[in-house]
Amino acid sequence: MKQKYRKDSETIKTEVVCPNDTNPMELLQGGRLVEWMDIAAAVCAQTHAEKICVTASINHVDFKHSAMVGDIVTIHANITRAFNSSMEILVKAYARKILEGERNLISEAYFTFVALNKVGESTKVNELVPVTEEEIMEFEAAGRRKNVPM
Ligand SMILES: CC(C)(COP(=O)(O)OP(=O)(O)OC[C@H]1O[C@@H](n2cnc3c(N)ncnc32)[C@H](O)[C@@H]1OP(=O)(O)O)[C@@H](O)C(=O)NCCC(=O)NCCS
Repeated sequence: MKQKYRKDSETIKTEVVCPNDTNPMELLQGGRLVEWMDIAAAVCAQTHAEKICVTASINHVDFKHSAMVGDIVTIHANITRAFNSSMEILVKAYARKILEGERNLISEAYFTFVALNKVGESTKVNELVPVTEEEIMEFEAAGRRKNVPM
C-alpha cells in the first residue's frame, strides 16, 4: 500500500442549478445536492484508494442555506482519514450567484466509502498522511467518529 496525501485526491465538482433540480419554489432540492456530493466524494475516495469504492454511509448532513435556479454550485471533497478498507470524506458545497460573486456554504457532510476487490469484498486502501494542523485535527476527529485509537 502507498502513503498518500489529502491533496492527491482533492476533488472539485461544479454544477449549475437548473429548473429540474429544484422544488416549486425554485430552490435546489436536498436530494439532488446530496447526489452531486456523493459523486464528488466517490471520485475523491476512488482516487485515494485507486480501487472501486461504494458509499457505506452519509453522516451529519447539514443544509445551511438554499441555492436557486441559475446559481453555480461548487462541491469540494477531501479525504479526512483512511482506515483499513474504509475512508471518511468531508464534502462541502458552496453556491454563488453569477452577478454577485460571493459564495455561501450551503451544505456539508461526512461520507464513508469502502473499497472493494474484484469479487466485491472489502479490501485494504492506501494510507493517508495528514500534514497540516487542520488535516491532523480532521484525522483525529475521524478516528473519534469511527471510535478507533488515534
Ligand atoms: C459497505 C459494504 C461494502 C460493507 O460491507 P461489510 O461486509 O459490512 O464489510 P466489512 O464488515 O468487511 O467492513 C468493511 C469496512 O466498512 C466499514 N463499514 C461497514 N458498514 C459501514 C457503515 N454503514 N458505515 C460506515 N462504515 C461502514 C467497516 O467499519 C469496515 O471499515 P474498515 O475496514 O476501514 O475498518 C456493504 O455493506 C455494501 O456493499 N453496502 C452497499 C453499498 C452500496 O451499494 N452503496 C451505494 C448506495 S445503495
